[in-house]
Amino acid sequence: MRSPKDFFRPLAVGAPEPLREIPFRPSRMIHFFDPSNEKMAAKVPDMAAQADVLLGNLEDAVRADRKEAARAGLVKVARETDFGDTQLWTRINSLDSPWVLDDLVTLVTEVGDKLDVIMVPKVEGAADIHYVDRLLAQLEARAGLTRPLLVHAILETASGVANVEEIATASPRMQGISLGPADLAASRRMKTTRVGGGHPGYLVRTDPTGDDLTAGRTTYQQDLWHYTVARMVDACAAAGILPYYGPFGDIADVVACEDQFRNAFLLGCVGAWSLHPKQIAIAKKVFSPAPEDVAWARRVIAAMGDGTGAVMIDGKMQDDATVKQCRVVADLADALAA
Ligand code: GLV
Ligand code: MG
Repeated sequence: MRSPKDFFRPLAVGAPEPLREIPFRPSRMIHFFDPSNEKMAAKVPDMAAQADVLLGNLEDAVRADRKEAARAGLVKVARETDFGDTQLWTRINSLDSPWVLDDLVTLVTEVGDKLDVIMVPKVEGAADIHYVDRLLAQLEARAGLTRPLLVHAILETASGVANVEEIATASPRMQGISLGPADLAASRRMKTTRVGGGHPGYLVRTDPTGDDLTAGRTTYQQDLWHYTVARMVDACAAAGILPYYGPFGDIADVVACEDQFRNAFLLGCVGAWSLHPKQIAIAKKVFSPAPEDVAWARRVIAAMGDGTGAVMIDGKMQDDATVKQCRVVADLADALAA
């Protein structure tokens, strides 16, 4: 049997040539829907026209007594919907749950040809990915599938973060990794009860200017997720797979959502989850490079000729390294426009 390695090379925009072999498919937002909710499932064809990725969620947020209905609902939606260029993903239940075996067997057997990526929650280390990889290979062979399903891990346990590098390289099926801030906060015993985003208590304060310790001091809220996102981005970039920010639970706070998504984008993430249609537009805006940044990148690339040496543009030094930075921005803009 052909191994997934025969047909899959991971994609990383801006990565060296050998990593660009599979066609680019945008994944700026992974839009979650609950397939056990008939009203939501009925909107899937509409959502497919708006989102880069639609994900039928079987795990957390689906009640225990609705797990079977969610699985059956996803099979129905997958069979009946023309997804066009939009990818269809699913988030299966965790590997220690009573539902995951049926999730994998049913989905791969019934609609394995419609699914692109299986998101695996609460991944602790490479052994979890090896298990899913082997089971998928068996199920794919039995179903006669010719296109391997890809695997996406959620980074949402302290062990997962400690093992993120081995997770990223655990299988040629690895497509990417998302931060799961809610479960991760619980696993680490952090004291935030939010789903992603900041916390007003996590701050730095400027020094006092005199004896009065309370007067005139400014506080700056810090990003609770900076360390984990940066670590995840490094692990993914080194492995040639894609990093994503996960969920932002305060749907009404579109400003903080955009800020959190932008921090992730600037650090190297290619997308985030969307839990509500209004977060689709936010992700599309944030994870597409701004026209002025693309124009600047193209100016630097043009001025740098063969990409070596140094030039000054508007008083700023450009060289071999800055032209590489600019290619990341310009390549992403080209890939999204194609
Ligand atoms: C997502 O699954 C999270 O736990 O944040
Ligand atoms: Mg979670």
